[in-house]
Amino acid sequence: MHRALQLAAQGPRTGPNPRVGCVLLAPDGRVLAEGAHRGAGTPHAEAAALAALPEGAARGATAVVTLEPCTHTGRTGPCSRALLAAGVSRVVVADTDPNPRAAGGAAELAAAGVDVETGLLAPESRALNERWAAAVGRGRPWVTWKWAATLDGRSAAADGSSRWITSAASRADVHRLRAEHDAVLVGTGTALADDPALTVRADGREVEGPQPLRVVAGLRELPAGARLRDERAPLLHVRSREPHAVLAALAAREVRTVLLEGGPTLAAAFAAAGLVDEVVCYLAPALLGAGPAAVGDLGVRSMPDIARLRLRSVERTGDDVRLVARPVPSGVWSADPALPVKEAAGVHRDR
Ligand SMILES: NC(=O)c1ccc[n+]([C@@H]2O[C@H](COP(=O)([O-])OP(=O)(O)OC[C@H]3O[C@@H](n4cnc5c(N)ncnc54)[C@H](OP(=O)(O)O)[C@@H]3O)[C@@H](O)[C@H]2O)c1
Repeated sequence: MHRALQLAAQGPRTGPNPRVGCVLLAPDGRVLAEGAHRGAGTPHAEAAALAALPEGAARGATAVVTLEPCTHTGRTGPCSRALLAAGVSRVVVADTDPNPRAAGGAAELAAAGVDVETGLLAPESRALNERWAAAVGRGRPWVTWKWAATLDGRSAAADGSSRWITSAASRADVHRLRAEHDAVLVGTGTALADDPALTVRADGREVEGPQPLRVVAGLRELPAGARLRDERAPLLHVRSREPHAVLAALAAREVRTVLLEGGPTLAAAFAAAGLVDEVVCYLAPALLGAGPAAVGDLGVRSMPDIARLRLRSVERTGDDVRLVARPVPSGVWSADPALPVKEAAGVHRDR
């Protein structure tokens, strides 16, 4: 299973599907074949491992797989059937599938007489796909909220200018963060004030490969010449001020992870709705003394309402401090930020 987890970790961090690895073992324990899932539309890990063997060579084998084999026909066929057809006699699974539309593979295999064991290194497998599992389980994308602020918590100067609060190292780190998400989201306020490109760049140039979906939330139109309308990456304008509706529109497009880049008004709306899963904050050793705060009104009126976070890491990026933290249910923060699955049409897995 450790080897299967290593294979799984080679898969992409973005995209609609989880990272999955599979090792096929002969009855004497020899490794027959290995497989990993490389992203939507490519074979699932089990199918990739089976494809590496000649016909009939998997008869009586053990399949060690990091996620419960799917029962779902999406872009490719169900893995439970492929394992049965290949004559695999034992299946060892790390984690069960949190996606209601694809789960049930372990039960299907057991009903067909296969010896099934579930739970081996389940926490490791779950950690590998944490954001994906949260997204399919709740029917809404995982939301990482990123912002940059001065030590006095300001995100722009009194005249609205905000470039640049943080160091070049922090800004480069933001591009790495963007590359780990399926979508990047801002409000119309930021889109109009900053005319951002929101692409993943290195040394001033767009990196090769697919760019995250650029998403703008709000009612105002973007000007015809806005950078967000250019060809560098796709754009989705969700004409809504309702955070749940924005996430439902993204879930319908199989977006599993979104980087919320502000501004303060949109970020406050998401935070107040309990729709933030992780916070990445770049704090610059600088003061503005005036100008907008990094986050707008959360509805906190008194100390019992305070929105608390649990710190996960503190690092230095250039001259700045990079904090990663996660909300803890407290004060104005609701305990269950889940969006009912039925509101998020089109959420399914095809790994
Ligand atoms: N330091 C940082 O990390 C950082 C990051 C981003 C932005 N900024 C700065 O923030 C400033 C812009 O601030 P901002 O607060 O106006 O930007 P914003 O949060 O990006 O946009 C606010 C606008 O979004 C729309 N909107 C969408 N959903 C909403 C909701 N649930 N509630 C309320 N409004 C919603 C509204 O416009 P409609 O009328 O169109 O619906 C609203 O006026 C700029 O100066 C920018 O440079 C700083």
